[in-house]
Amino acid sequence: MRLNKFLARCGVASRRSSDLLINNGKVTVNGKLANAMGIIINPDKDIVTCNGVVVEFAQDIVYYMLNKPKGYVTTVTDPYNRPTVMQLLSGINLRVFPIGRLDFATEGLLLITNDGDLTNKLTHPSHNIQKIYQVTVTGTLNENNIKELESGMVIDGYKTAPASVEIITQLENSIDVNVKIHEGRNRQVRKMFEQIGKEITHLKRVQIGEIKLGKLKRGEYRALTKDEINYLKNIK
Ligand code: URA
Repeated sequence: MRLNKFLARCGVASRRSSDLLINNGKVTVNGKLANAMGIIINPDKDIVTCNGVVVEFAQDIVYYMLNKPKGYVTTVTDPYNRPTVMQLLSGINLRVFPIGRLDFATEGLLLITNDGDLTNKLTHPSHNIQKIYQVTVTGTLNENNIKELESGMVIDGYKTAPASVEIITQLENSIDVNVKIHEGRNRQVRKMFEQIGKEITHLKRVQIGEIKLGKLKRGEYRALTKDEINYLKNIK
């Protein structure tokens, strides 16, 4: 296997960024600097390091979905000792990691894998995979609010891509809507609603592309089906 592919598969960086790490002399193979292109390695035998740390190779590539509850950080380790999503995955005996993230207070669909290539692909901004969120907002939303949310708004200096908003139920003091977006900027849905002066009281991701959270219980995870895995791998 080519060294850049190996590094990408192990989640070190995308293939292109792995080439940069290799060129910049950050990678060794069996103790020797590996700064030439096209080096082939045997993942079973060769010891690869990046920035001085041994890169672990997993033979088994696994794919799961987790229904993240609120009150958990989407990270492998948290410097503030808050509960992390990894604590909900203790039954998986491989070094897995989340694809992308959900905020501490957001719940719902989080993909989990040890496939670094897929992670790099799905988190790259060029992919624009559709994500659907169930949102509860205090009060109501008028036509103008919905137009603003849907037509794209400037957040942190960037214009968001058009979104779509579907009203699900208007309750006495709050409204439930489904929001579809194609981007994944930091706290994007919360910031979109803040911008129109609305407070989100509940935020849950229910779909990524064609992958649906379905009836998976809060805090539980399940392996993805073959079809779900193929779908993710075939996203161009
Ligand atoms: N948008 C948010 O505001 N939070 C999330 O966790 C995901 C999308």
